[in-house]
Amino acid sequence: MKILFLNGPNLNLLGQREPSVYGRDTLADIEAKVRERAGQLNVAVEFRQSNLEGELVGWIQESKGAFDVIVINAAAYTHTSIAVRDAISAVGVPTIEIHLSNIHAREEFRHKSVIAAVCRGQICGFGPQSYLLGLGAAIGEKRC
Ligand code: DQA
Repeated sequence: MKILFLNGPNLNLLGQREPSVYGRDTLADIEAKVRERAGQLNVAVEFRQSNLEGELVGWIQESKGAFDVIVINAAAYTHTSIAVRDAISAVGVPTIEIHLSNIHAREEFRHKSVIAAVCRGQICGFGPQSYLLGLGAAIGEKRC
């Protein structure tokens, strides 16, 4: 079982970026937590981050046959990227949408996710725990 964690723009700044919204953990801290839990569950995980829409699209395209599930925090592209949405839809690898913050409790432009309809489900608002919940959902995806 292999799970691909994709992270979109500005998530490389976690730890210093608006800590009141996103917390003090860096993306590396979050990855370490996910890796620890994945190790206990015997699941292989890969973590990637890009500030570039096309790079995320490329990784989604390449995931077919290489990964069983994608867990994606598309960050701002969640709200804007038809290209990311179309890639998820085209490739057909089961995909779970996650966010650190509760996007529905924030500015109105964050309430709409253009990728939600092509994802199996959405987890948001639990801080770094959203990533662990995404891992759990990904495993349920294959074992249920
Ligand atoms: C985010 C929420 C998005 O609205 C925002 O653009 C991000 C991070 C989150 O994890 O809470 O960059 O995806």
